[in-house]
Amino acid sequence: MRNYLVLTLITCCLLSNCTPKESITNVLISKEDAIEFKIDSILSKMTLEEKIGQTAQRGKSSRVKELPVELKEAVKKGEIGSFLNIMNKDDAKELQRIAMEESPNKIPLIFARDVIHGFKTIFPIPLGQAASFDPNLVQKGARISAIEASTYGIRWTFAPMLDISRDPRWGRIAESAGEDQYLTSIMGEAYIKGFQGDDLSSSTSIAACAKHFVGYGAAEGGRDYNTANINEFSLHNTYLKPFKKAVETNVATLMTGFNDLNGVPVSGNKYLLTEVLRNQWGFDGFVVSDWNSIIEMVPHGFAEDEAAAAGKAANAMLDMEMTSTSYQDNMKNLIEERKFSENQLDEMVRNILRIKFKLGLFDKPYFEPESDVLYAKEHLEAAKEAAKKSMVLLKNKNQILPLSTKKSLAIIGPLADAPHDQLGTWTFDGEKARTITPLTSFKEDGEHPILYSKGLSYSRDKSNKRFNDAIKIAKNSDIIVFFGGEEAILSGEAHSRANLNLPGKQESLISELHKTGKPIVLVLMAGRPITLGNIIDKVDAVLFAWHPGTMGGPAILDILTGKASPSGRLPITWPKEVGQIPIYYNHKNTGRPTIPEEFVQIDSIPIGAWQSSLGNTSHYLDLGYLPQYPFGYGLTYSSFEYCDVKILSNEINENGPIIVSAKITNTGNVIAEEVVQLYFRDMVGSITRPVKELLRFKKIELEPGASKIVDFVFSKDDISFYGLDKKWVVEPGKFKLWVGKHALDQTHELEFVIE
Ligand code: BGC
Repeated sequence: MRNYLVLTLITCCLLSNCTPKESITNVLISKEDAIEFKIDSILSKMTLEEKIGQTAQRGKSSRVKELPVELKEAVKKGEIGSFLNIMNKDDAKELQRIAMEESPNKIPLIFARDVIHGFKTIFPIPLGQAASFDPNLVQKGARISAIEASTYGIRWTFAPMLDISRDPRWGRIAESAGEDQYLTSIMGEAYIKGFQGDDLSSSTSIAACAKHFVGYGAAEGGRDYNTANINEFSLHNTYLKPFKKAVETNVATLMTGFNDLNGVPVSGNKYLLTEVLRNQWGFDGFVVSDWNSIIEMVPHGFAEDEAAAAGKAANAMLDMEMTSTSYQDNMKNLIEERKFSENQLDEMVRNILRIKFKLGLFDKPYFEPESDVLYAKEHLEAAKEAAKKSMVLLKNKNQILPLSTKKSLAIIGPLADAPHDQLGTWTFDGEKARTITPLTSFKEDGEHPILYSKGLSYSRDKSNKRFNDAIKIAKNSDIIVFFGGEEAILSGEAHSRANLNLPGKQESLISELHKTGKPIVLVLMAGRPITLGNIIDKVDAVLFAWHPGTMGGPAILDILTGKASPSGRLPITWPKEVGQIPIYYNHKNTGRPTIPEEFVQIDSIPIGAWQSSLGNTSHYLDLGYLPQYPFGYGLTYSSFEYCDVKILSNEINENGPIIVSAKITNTGNVIAEEVVQLYFRDMVGSITRPVKELLRFKKIELEPGASKIVDFVFSKDDISFYGLDKKWVVEPGKFKLWVGKHALDQTHELEFVIE
């Protein structure tokens, strides 16, 4: 809805036969137009240096105590538009005071921070939150993060990360919503709505930043910062989709990535930043580079020096430069040499000022004094709920979980009491002193007799000197609960791993514990799937808790003891071994699709066998073709039956919707949640289409014995694809649909035809 304001125009009427007089006219103009008028007026007064200043984002090292005089001077001259990571409130206030009182045009600064999955109250890592399949919960978490962060004057976060991530070796998969473009789009929308609130100008709203535009998650071999090669069709049909949705959700800003995409680093990619983002999608917020990503185009071999890099980024319409100073150092020359124009610069400044106006920073540049919202009771409750709903139960042999109250427990492992590590990656402001670990929660609960031995002091620990202690308490207990996984620092930016098994001596310790004959419940805390091949048969249950955040302990306690049933589902395909990567459910078919009955296993090949491809399809001789666990997979403490799966109404050929419905019944004994998933396949296309694509999902809660009809509604747009002629099309032909529990569940299949 457009908001209208009354603009009073004072015009001077000069008539030949009368004396000059003023006439006053009241005109109704939209709030948006009013902002543009104000920007025009400011731009007309700005010097070239001040305009370049708006494009500069600076930081201050936390090691430097005092605010450097040069920074204050630069703000006074109007040479800085934004700061990141100013966490001393007095410094932030002083810098804003200088901008508002002493700079030439009194343009407010915008303060930014990576508020990724919580500010003080930390929620599960984004990959975990995606596993909740619950966008409302994600939106609530982002709202809370914004409320907390804004008490420090932060009005801009560098989140959500919308990079499609199909390689768990890549450390930043922890920050993503996983491998699927639809789930990532829905989660992105939820974060943006949560961060930005209903009204961006409210003092608790913070601008979101969809990053990293685009393809950063497709880094070769999962090695961070590496080259991405994505063909045009996958780019549009997969990687760009979550960003398009973000723009439709009115995301205020976007960040470019570090990566080279198909030969052109994205920070200098005119096609993406101008043609797609601005011309096709109509984005009117601003784009920030990643940390030094403009000048990194020099080592990429895309620009000969920083001046050339600045020219390429600016000409592509990258509005603001994070930390490096290539715009500041070279923009004036570029304009003088006619390699860039002041009009283009005006557009960049206009984009930045527009967001500053929308955030209400011109009217209310200062933030409220700190209130008591940090770690508020309802924030902690929401963090606990998010942690509970993110956890994925992967294995539960003989229903060992939930733990029966009579049983004594041996709590073992490097992550049972690791308050810093359970917060996960990108948690600059989370505090381990405020974090509740599983060990603390079990002790406070007091329902189970417990013995505790760390066994290994941290996840990479290679010493077995504490093994005996752990084995001793295991022998004296009924059940072993092993808290293993990865320390927080092993995932996140620049933390790619080539091996995805449990680091250090964790597998050895689990093998030793297995010899005691006591059942083992493995609780994994990690930023990515962990390959479990060496130990999966030695443990009875596996609960994947991700890095669950501040309230991870109480949430794990509730799940393990059955106060809540696990309800998370995998947002990524879980490989058996690293050698299977990339492995993702929405792949294309081959001309020789795998036929389970014909699968040739390595040991079944006769010695001295003659060269033959018979029976061999696209699979590994030694690992087959199936993952450890498919996308969408997760167990509960109950069971669900699907019936009456049907197309309820089909108006798709008249451009109306299709409604698919299914009756879901809780056939178990406890209340639990089910994530009902709808997938589709376009059977034949002018370009090949994936074997399955997630189309809709719904998370529902059912009492034992209760049933619910779940309806899914979709239209032609939802099944269209970017085709050969560079247009979005829906081609006539047959489509299949599946309603099921995960991506490999084919039980309930439907079909429809587009004429
Ligand atoms: C990361 C960004 C982050 C920025 C600011 C970079 O290294 O790639 O995602 O927002 O730093 O901290």
